[in-house]
Amino acid sequence: MKSPAAANSKPSLRSARKEHDGLAAEIARHNIAYYQNDAPEISDAQYDAMRQRLEELEGFYPELAERNDVSQQVGAAPSEKFAKVKHRVAMLSLGNVFADEDVSDFTGRVRRFLGLRDDTPLAFTAEPKIDGLSCAIRYEGGEFVQAATRGDGYEGEDVTANVRTIKAIPHRLKGRGVPDVLEVRGEIYMDRHAFAALNERQAKAGEKVFANPRNAAAGALRQLDSSITASRPLHFFAYTWGEISGTRPADTQMGMIEAFAEFGLPVNPLTKVLKSADEMIAHYRMIGERRAELAYDIDGVVYKVNDLHLQERLGYVSRSPRWAVAHKFPAEQAITILRDIEIQVGRTGALTPVAKLEPVTVGGVVVSNATLHNEDEIARKDIRIGDHVVVQRAGDVVPQVVEVVLDRREKNAKPYVFPEVCPVCGSAAVRELDAKGEADAVRRCTGGLICKAQAVERLKHFASRNAFDIEGLGDKQIEFFFEKDLVRSPAEIFTLQKRDSESLTKIKNYDGFGETSVRKLFAAIEERRKIDLNRLIFGLGIRHVGETNARRLARHFGTFEALQATARAANDPDASERAELVNIDGIGSVVAESIIEFFNEPHNIEAVGALLKEIDPQPMEAVASQSPVSGKTVVFTGSLERMTRDEAKAMAERLGAKVSGSVSKKTDLVVAGPGAGSKLAKAEQFGVEVITEDQWFERVGG
Ligand code: IVH
Repeated sequence: MKSPAAANSKPSLRSARKEHDGLAAEIARHNIAYYQNDAPEISDAQYDAMRQRLEELEGFYPELAERNDVSQQVGAAPSEKFAKVKHRVAMLSLGNVFADEDVSDFTGRVRRFLGLRDDTPLAFTAEPKIDGLSCAIRYEGGEFVQAATRGDGYEGEDVTANVRTIKAIPHRLKGRGVPDVLEVRGEIYMDRHAFAALNERQAKAGEKVFANPRNAAAGALRQLDSSITASRPLHFFAYTWGEISGTRPADTQMGMIEAFAEFGLPVNPLTKVLKSADEMIAHYRMIGERRAELAYDIDGVVYKVNDLHLQERLGYVSRSPRWAVAHKFPAEQAITILRDIEIQVGRTGALTPVAKLEPVTVGGVVVSNATLHNEDEIARKDIRIGDHVVVQRAGDVVPQVVEVVLDRREKNAKPYVFPEVCPVCGSAAVRELDAKGEADAVRRCTGGLICKAQAVERLKHFASRNAFDIEGLGDKQIEFFFEKDLVRSPAEIFTLQKRDSESLTKIKNYDGFGETSVRKLFAAIEERRKIDLNRLIFGLGIRHVGETNARRLARHFGTFEALQATARAANDPDASERAELVNIDGIGSVVAESIIEFFNEPHNIEAVGALLKEIDPQPMEAVASQSPVSGKTVVFTGSLERMTRDEAKAMAERLGAKVSGSVSKKTDLVVAGPGAGSKLAKAEQFGVEVITEDQWFERVGG
């Protein structure tokens, strides 16, 4: 794609027409990629630049607008919705490692967590990491009943009809010992052969060609017409599970994979049990060498602790298991020219430099944007506009500029000067100093509420998939509503329908919307008035409050009012509420500060107040509300004998308890091992219940 130049002189009608046609076709293609296929190929900024140029050309020659209506559309019609499926067991992701040393770090971490000596045997499985889409397939009484995509890990889309057409996936499980309920999880993928053949057919028919097998598989799975899915050969490997009733078919990872195979499910033949980091690395090398011969794309090797009891003890940290890790293959690289550096302004005002590249194919995908991280990174690598640069892409990660090819630098290339004002609102952009007086790596726009970029990005975040997840209210629609002054705050999303019904210029009359899409949008908004508390907290876009912290806050406070009241009271540095916030496990003082700042900022108070009039936040579903320690604040002290300290903490959290490092009046329970000192004394002083490690196990049942 040719990147459009800014502030151009008037072209001839002939060349304007040609350029306009080209741009219109590109934009139409990207609309579909973005809105219907969930597979954007370019950044929003790049898309915007194309639209801007289109409009500029139409400004020169208004008749061009008649040629096609792309400039009038706001995206493509949203695809019809698949029903949502809540995952009974969350579908989480994996941590990544790249270097060989990281593998022994991983096995070492596992040993330490479990308190195993270096010579205690510990086995792992290793298997290819398939580059496809994860899918959960539910069997009841051995019959296939439902299939769901991963979605955000907690809720996916119901793709039962489409997955039924995949031949490799049995409709009925065979053999003995099939659990009554068995949710098999694995990867749906398209093999390279089928991918090439599909693209050839698509090209011949003048249809969209896919960038890689993964996108092709995603496209096939998201078809509303399952006969189309059936015509595109998809495969499946089973590698893990969600819900299982009764006793598990096996006690090891490998045993489960073998049981899956006996039930008739396809499993990967390169799965192997290994006994040390060295053996794991050797298996990784072997798979890497065979990568090109495999019929399907892989992007690394996954290691998992083989013993399932140990997996349970290890548990999860944030969104990944402690008992597994992905060892990724090195990233693919290519050289291209850096045409420009664009500064994007995010919702917290962060100025992020983006490299605009001469498009280049890296590992089968065309890359025209890459992240440059921040100002220091550009200076450290001395990246200059016009340089030849090495670009790297690994899996789903945003492409990166690795280094400059110095001997190809033009003589007159000048060092890049990072802007000190916000390119959107013109306010000063500064680097805050931390407690030690060191400048933050990120330069931020100080325009806050007056900066349009921040306001728009905050709204996009609010409506986004892991926050309010409002179908049909994507980035492009938010920009459109903001521009038209229809939505400038979260509350206004929920008053949009009422205001539209009273307005003379109806949304449905804007090109690109229409009756049906507006009706669907309003329905999607209505549906979200009832919102999970953690999604609401995350959606507010408080600095440092990502999904994990939002869950912690939701779990701790239970209701939005409780969070808000505590955060407001905590503005007083001596208030006990400040200590309460800081002491929530995983929160700490930096996060607490930004929560306090958010809830005490007058404009936020107003915006949140208006929002609360429109919505009905649902208390967080407690992780284990039935557990005898859920909601309790627990302190472990002294030496523990049946578990390591990390393990104790993880176990308590899994059971819905909060773990604190110090004893206060608010502590509910102290678990004390031999040698407990001042914490035990404090517990006695405050009259807090003290139990032994054995009593802890009795209480939590195991
Ligand atoms: S195990 C709790 N095994 O990689 C995590 N995942 O980066 C269970 N993937 O979402 C996942 N091959 O889509 C596992 N052999 C394999 C895999 C695999 C591919 C995908 C899966 C997961 C993602 C995490």
